[in-house]
Amino acid sequence: MQIITSIPKALCMPRAGHFSLDDNDAYQYWRDEKLSAYPANTADLIVQIENPFALTRVEKKAIIALCRKTNMLIYRFKKPVHDPADKTQLKKLGEQLGLYRLDSNLCADNDSITSLRVGPAGRQHTYIPYSNHRLSWHTDGYYNARDRQIKGMLLHCVNAAAKGGVNALLDPEIAYIHLREHNPDYIYALMHPQAMTIPANVVQGKLVRNAQSGPVFSVAGDGHLHMRYSARTRNIEWRENETSLAARNYLTAFLNSDSEYIFRHRLEPAEGLLCNNVLHNRSAFEDEGEPRLLYRARYFDRVQAA
Ligand SMILES: [Fe+2]
Repeated sequence: MQIITSIPKALCMPRAGHFSLDDNDAYQYWRDEKLSAYPANTADLIVQIENPFALTRVEKKAIIALCRKTNMLIYRFKKPVHDPADKTQLKKLGEQLGLYRLDSNLCADNDSITSLRVGPAGRQHTYIPYSNHRLSWHTDGYYNARDRQIKGMLLHCVNAAAKGGVNALLDPEIAYIHLREHNPDYIYALMHPQAMTIPANVVQGKLVRNAQSGPVFSVAGDGHLHMRYSARTRNIEWRENETSLAARNYLTAFLNSDSEYIFRHRLEPAEGLLCNNVLHNRSAFEDEGEPRLLYRARYFDRVQAA
C-alpha cells in the first residue's frame, strides 16, 4: 500500500478504531457489520408515523435502528390526520430524536426551518435549491464553519412537483467504504484539512461568509464519521494533488453509478427524509398548479435516542 507522506497522519486520521487506517482489523469488523443485511430497497427505509408529536416506542426503535444502519430513513405521516404544512410537528418530531440545535442559515424562515420553493425574487433567487433546476450531489452545510457542521437533517414534503423532484440518497459511510476498499490513500487525501475549500461568499461587494477549508471525511469527537462534500464544479477549490484528484474522480463515478447502495425516492406530501446529513441530490422538476414546497431543518445534532 502506497502511503502519502506529504500529509501529516496525526492531523487527519483517528489513531485507533475502525476509521483509523492503522487499525485494519477494527475496520474490517465494522465494514462487515455495516454491509450485513444492508437495506436493498427504498421501501426498506420507510417508517410509518401515527402521530409525530408522540412517537410510539416501536416507531422510535425503527427510526433509531435505521439511522444506525443507513444514517437515514423516510417517514410517512398517517394521512389525513396531520396537516403536512404544520411546522410544529417537525420540530416536535426532531426533539424526540435528539434534534434540538437548528442552524439558522441565510434563507431560513423565522423559525429556522427553510421553505424550499421556487422563489420569485430576493437573495434566495440566486441559489439553486430555490429553483427547479437539478441539484447535484452534496451534503448540507458543506460551506459552514468547522464548528457549525450539519450533523442531522430533516426534509419534509408539503407539496410535490407535478413532474420530477426525485432525490438520490447515499450513506456517507458507504462512500467511505467504497473509497477505502479501492485505495486507502484516498481516505488520507480526503481527510486532509485543506481537501476542499469553499471560497468566500461576497454579495454586492459585502462579505456574507468567509472562505471555508476542511476535510471531506472527518471523525467527530463522538466517533461518528462526518462528510462534507459538493459535486459542484464552480465555487469549489479542491486541493491540487494527484491522489486527491483520483479520489474525487472515483467518488464522482460512484455517485453517478447505478449502485444498489444509492436509494432513489420522490417525497410525497406528508413524507420526509430524516437523516444524519447523508449525500443527496435532486432531479429537476416542473410545477403545475400548487408549487412544490419542502421544509428543511438542519441540525448541529445527529439523530439519536433522546
Ligand atoms: Fe441539501
